[in-house]
Amino acid sequence: MSADYQVHGSVAVITLNNPPVNGLGHATRTAAVEGIRRANDDAAVKAIVLTGAGKAFSGGADIKEFNSPKALAEPTLHTLIRVAEDSAKPMVAAIHSVCMGGGLELALGCNYRVALPGAQIALPEVKLGLLPGAGGTQRLPRVLGLEKALNMIVSGTPALSETLAGSALFDEVFPAGTDLVKAAVAFAEKVADVRPLPKVRDRKVDYPNHEAFLQFSRNTVKAVAGPFPAPLECVETVAASVTKKFEDGLKFERERFLHLIQTPESKSLRHAFFAEREASKIPDVPSDTPTRTIARAAVIGAGTMGGGIAMNFANAGIPVTILETKQEALEKGLATIRKNYESTLKKGKLTQEKFDQRMALIGGTLDYHDIAQADIVVEAVFEDMGVKEAVFRKLDSVMKPGAILASNTSTLDVDRIAAFTQRPQDVIGTHFFSPANVMKLLEIVRGKETGKDVLATTMALSKKLKKTGVVSGVCDGFIGNRMIEQYSRQAGFLLEEGCLPEQVDKAIEKFGFAMGPFRMIDMAGNDISWAIRKRRYIEKPEVAYSKTADLLCEMGRFGQKTGGGWYDYKAGDRKAYPSQLVNDMIVRHSADIGVERRKISDQEIVERLVYALVNEGALILEEGIAQRASDIDMVYLTGYGFPLFRGGPMFYADTVGLPNVLASVERFAKGRHGEAWKPAPLLVKLAAEGKGFNSR
Ligand code: NAI
Repeated sequence: MSADYQVHGSVAVITLNNPPVNGLGHATRTAAVEGIRRANDDAAVKAIVLTGAGKAFSGGADIKEFNSPKALAEPTLHTLIRVAEDSAKPMVAAIHSVCMGGGLELALGCNYRVALPGAQIALPEVKLGLLPGAGGTQRLPRVLGLEKALNMIVSGTPALSETLAGSALFDEVFPAGTDLVKAAVAFAEKVADVRPLPKVRDRKVDYPNHEAFLQFSRNTVKAVAGPFPAPLECVETVAASVTKKFEDGLKFERERFLHLIQTPESKSLRHAFFAEREASKIPDVPSDTPTRTIARAAVIGAGTMGGGIAMNFANAGIPVTILETKQEALEKGLATIRKNYESTLKKGKLTQEKFDQRMALIGGTLDYHDIAQADIVVEAVFEDMGVKEAVFRKLDSVMKPGAILASNTSTLDVDRIAAFTQRPQDVIGTHFFSPANVMKLLEIVRGKETGKDVLATTMALSKKLKKTGVVSGVCDGFIGNRMIEQYSRQAGFLLEEGCLPEQVDKAIEKFGFAMGPFRMIDMAGNDISWAIRKRRYIEKPEVAYSKTADLLCEMGRFGQKTGGGWYDYKAGDRKAYPSQLVNDMIVRHSADIGVERRKISDQEIVERLVYALVNEGALILEEGIAQRASDIDMVYLTGYGFPLFRGGPMFYADTVGLPNVLASVERFAKGRHGEAWKPAPLLVKLAAEGKGFNSR
């Protein structure tokens, strides 16, 4: 039973009961319809209150039913809303806590709505690339007016119930602390005999000169919607609430909804929505695994990463101490943190009070004894195994038992690091992305001996730090950097074969990446990847790289920080200007290695960069480094600027069709540096089976 039925005097109370947020799944819809019919059949009942148990009135569609035939089984949400709207006895929606999506559409089908203050009211469908498809676009403007409804539907942002009091959305917003059901029953008794029954559908949307407003909205929305079609479709359907009769508006809404649900953009957004939820699940670490308390943290190293990581703890209200080797480095690190917060303060995004609180949570020390009682320590010292060894041996000797010892290493072997301690079960990788106080991604690197409680605690901590935690196994570069290496190698080969940095960047930015590989590396610093390559030349001499990047570094061009990299930069300006000097070097290098430069199409550029990610991603999946394809997509969406409307590299490959991806990979394998294109066995297998990475 997922809705309860009770009679209070002459009022029936139907309580949606489908934890956690009373999602309108099939069983809930069925029970609600039965409740309304039962109340109508009972002569003793004069009015009906519809409310929700627990933490919500209703959060809308049941996400467990998404993409399943159950979502379309009768009674559908449309049917339920029609039954409520056609009820011969007045229906009162009693709203509290959360009333979103289908939940709000259902409330709008009731004759009256009463609410407690503090309830979140929203039609957030646009965030999944959709529009409210059960009458929301037609009914909300009828109670809130065109402008307010349009803003809510196009943005998907929740509004608090009390801010909507006084509109026709609510007949009453009770004072805080009111017993909602009791007050709603009293309200229902009061209106029990009022006829005709008021219906939202019978109201008119009055907006003088609506065409001018709608045109203005189309222009503004178009400018910010980017590649996503849903926001503009929201405007058009809301427009129909003014220009069309109610039934025709509903039909139009249905048609546009069915169109949007098939668009790749909406499919990508829904994929990302589920991928984020999936990523926090670790198959052999059940959700009830006990976690350790994280009340105090420490960070080793106050450099680029250490400072940002410390800010994450402070932002989450966790006191954190940063340890450095020298007073000077410590002070520099702390000053950078202060400067970062000051800039947020100046922009008005942080109050003075919060600024003071956060700064007070961050301390510094040169002495390991000051951090010994921390519950977690994140090491962010130089990327050098020798330095890491010294730090972990020291941590092992001073940290209290049960403290989590985490490393922010981007490429080193977490199992080797763990072996420097007597407590490998407490060691884990926490790979933050730069800038660590901004980037959402946290790769959680699971060593072979990492304890399940340590994993569960770190995953819970990632949520507390507002990060998207994705579990990766141990390998060189983990999920993200191991894949980006193949992408960067292709970018380098493209330069040798005929491209210039600008052409490569423009092509992949047109595909939707936030930044092309050369602009990106100019920002991060070419010297960092140079150091990694030098190590690779020794460790893996068989792997070929374009030498152009080394030649660039030999010219002293490390990127923005040195005023020049692949591009030229002007002081105080982050814009990248093509560099004649660099372009000449690239063309000369092709001649030096005897490669005849050719015209390369944007399509080839995109395929070589993106399929390099996909092929390596397939290996990572097969080796069990990533738990699932959607985790790889999450890494790329949240850490590498992969276009959200394409859903991540593995999802994108699925939409292209794996046989098509494989055909390109096989073609590249016959070309120059074909050894980089050995098709991953999983790609070959899935392509042959007609499957996708996300539907194995
Ligand atoms: P950094 O060079 O900016 O900072 C390192 C800091 O550690 C310096 O302030 C240094 O004084 C301090 N340090 C060195 N040895 C120490 C010791 N024994 N005890 C205490 N402090 C010590 O380096 P960055 O960029 O912050 O990198 C740190 C770690 O994070 C590396 O493992 C790196 O691979 C990783 N990482 C770096 C990213 C980046 O974009 N910079 C991204 C993700 C991970």
